[in-house]
Amino acid sequence: MWELFNGARRLKGVLPIEAMTFKVFCVETNRRNFCKSAAVAVIGGVAAAVPIGAGLTSFVQPLREGGAKEGQWIPVTALEALPAGDAPMKFLVVANKVDAWSKTPNVPVGAVYLIRNAKGDITALNVICPHAGGIIDYDAAEGCFLCPLHKSLFNADGSLKNAKSPSPRPMDTLQTEVRDGTVWVRFENFRVGVRQKIPA
Ligand code: FES
Repeated sequence: MWELFNGARRLKGVLPIEAMTFKVFCVETNRRNFCKSAAVAVIGGVAAAVPIGAGLTSFVQPLREGGAKEGQWIPVTALEALPAGDAPMKFLVVANKVDAWSKTPNVPVGAVYLIRNAKGDITALNVICPHAGGIIDYDAAEGCFLCPLHKSLFNADGSLKNAKSPSPRPMDTLQTEVRDGTVWVRFENFRVGVRQKIPA
């Protein structure tokens, strides 16, 4: 994707090069008095380049919107695979991924812990640590979450276990829905290292 954006930038970067070409062309043709017609040609070329750039941007836009974009509702598991109880279970989040040149189906784009309590309410927690992006583990023996990178500890509901935790906020919760026996998660990543939960 960045390649394509950079390509768009390079396309914009063509304009000064066109101008340089124009200068050189003028010097060479002054002697033959063709500069006027050259100017018309180059200005026409510059004018044509602008819609090409705009066209490329509108071509890129749908690609950016394809695939596993942030905040996308994604089916994660069958409800029956998530027994009621308070023990979190980890699930991969899989979606179709689209880049500038290809579409790849069923690519893991993240992971979540799902917790289905005794009442049947489901909580989803992103596995990414809000401190610096480590992958949070669940310690079943201790009944809490632990990030191995800098030892942030979270309670089983994702709240901070220690007020002096390196993590500036609790684990990031995600919206869930049950549709026809399937658990869906509105998957999203958030900025790390900040107290507020801000989409990345
Ligand atoms: S990245 Fe998790 S504690 Fe630092």
